[in-house]
Amino acid sequence: DGDVYKYYVDGQWNKSSSGKSVPIINPTTRKTHYKVQACTQEEVNNVIDSAKKAQKLWAKTPLWKRAELLHKAAAILKENKAPIAECLVKEIAKPAKDAVTEVVRSGDLVSYCAEEGVRILGEGKFLVSDSFPGNDRTKYCLTSKIPLGVVLAIPPFNYPVNLAISKIAPALIAGNSIVLKPPTQGAVAALHMVHCFHLAGFPKGLIGCVTGKGSEIGDFLTMHPGVNCISFTGGDTGISISRKAGMIPLQMELGGKDACIVLEDADLDLAVANIVKGGFSYSGQRCTAVKVVLVMEQIASSLVKKVNEKVAKLTVGAPEDNCDITPVVTESSANFIEGLVKDAKEKKATFCQEYKREGNLIWPLLLDNVRPDMRIAWEEPFGPVLPVIRIKTVEEGIHHCNASNFGLQGCVFTSDINKAIMISDAMETGTVQINSAPARGPDHFPFQGLKDSGIGSQGITNSINIMTKVKTTVINLP
Ligand code: G3H
Repeated sequence: DGDVYKYYVDGQWNKSSSGKSVPIINPTTRKTHYKVQACTQEEVNNVIDSAKKAQKLWAKTPLWKRAELLHKAAAILKENKAPIAECLVKEIAKPAKDAVTEVVRSGDLVSYCAEEGVRILGEGKFLVSDSFPGNDRTKYCLTSKIPLGVVLAIPPFNYPVNLAISKIAPALIAGNSIVLKPPTQGAVAALHMVHCFHLAGFPKGLIGCVTGKGSEIGDFLTMHPGVNCISFTGGDTGISISRKAGMIPLQMELGGKDACIVLEDADLDLAVANIVKGGFSYSGQRCTAVKVVLVMEQIASSLVKKVNEKVAKLTVGAPEDNCDITPVVTESSANFIEGLVKDAKEKKATFCQEYKREGNLIWPLLLDNVRPDMRIAWEEPFGPVLPVIRIKTVEEGIHHCNASNFGLQGCVFTSDINKAIMISDAMETGTVQINSAPARGPDHFPFQGLKDSGIGSQGITNSINIMTKVKTTVINLP
């Protein structure tokens, strides 16, 4: 029926033979807003087969032509920012303005990727043999980067377009084909994005997109012998994917508990502005959100007071109205957040605001005097709840940060650059921001998690490199 969005295989939009669909619940109304196909394993096989065939020709397509098509897709994507953003508003309750920003950022990412790709893939290496002991100059070694084959892209709900694009664009410029499995919430935005690539005129089969329940096709996709690389962003499902996947490169980003350390000599207003933005933008549903504030005791009360003043000004409501705080993505997500709040209440954290929830909408909440025995000190709420831990020494802050199983990003606020660098070196996270909240972008910066936050580095250049392998030819002289 026409109400169910089709999936994309071999350059065509098809219905699934399953006759089943997956509902997408609007987080604001909590009613079904869209439906997508529940693809079968056989359909997954077809998408992968088709991607495999298309990749062979694509790898032989000149780099400049691949780049040209990517630039075209970027332009079409930006032209269609409004309808795609509309889907983001309805599927994941992203504030309308941020939804548009996500699409524009994605278009820019595609263009940058095309430019970066022609540069870095246009270069190889030339080595000679006589630098290694025992060798004469009789061997010339030529290296270049070749594609891996079929890249499986699994983005999360919070950036269904941008985190799909950050996998698709590097894969394509490097000569790979793509099989995309979008998240359920955000699937329709992703399908619209795929249509932009369709309109740009990419070869049939090069991009495939299957929708459906992770429980039915998830393992089948990630363990499929036709997949040559997995790029995944999401929760701890990534850990089980990495255990089951074959001997293929994995690029994974699995969340974080990004700490914000505030020292006595910090510019307090700067710290406060970043804590509120970092902690509460998109209602805290970012892997790089500030997820715990570790503040020196002497300045803690004034910091908390200033944060509360700003929290009071956050608007709470519908994404269509561009409210700062919008409903979290699912009811189960809201229930999980509530569980963390209840635990903090029982263990006597200081509630700076009253806990308030209506449906999936949770009002912003700052919890002061949080202690390590509370779940909120360690777990990521992925919601608008931010814990503050008062620390006596910098070491205590670093210790808390490093005791986490996560290691994505962290940040430190101080006016002493030497201290900042020492703290950055001591923090076991992939990135440390000095005097700013954690963030993945600009999108050409390296982005990686340590420990349970992931493996492999992202960012445009790193992604292109991860999605290639080195091919060597050695010329042996007489
Ligand atoms: O949710 C994870 C994203 O990679 C974070 O991206 O820092 O641009 O919000 P962002």
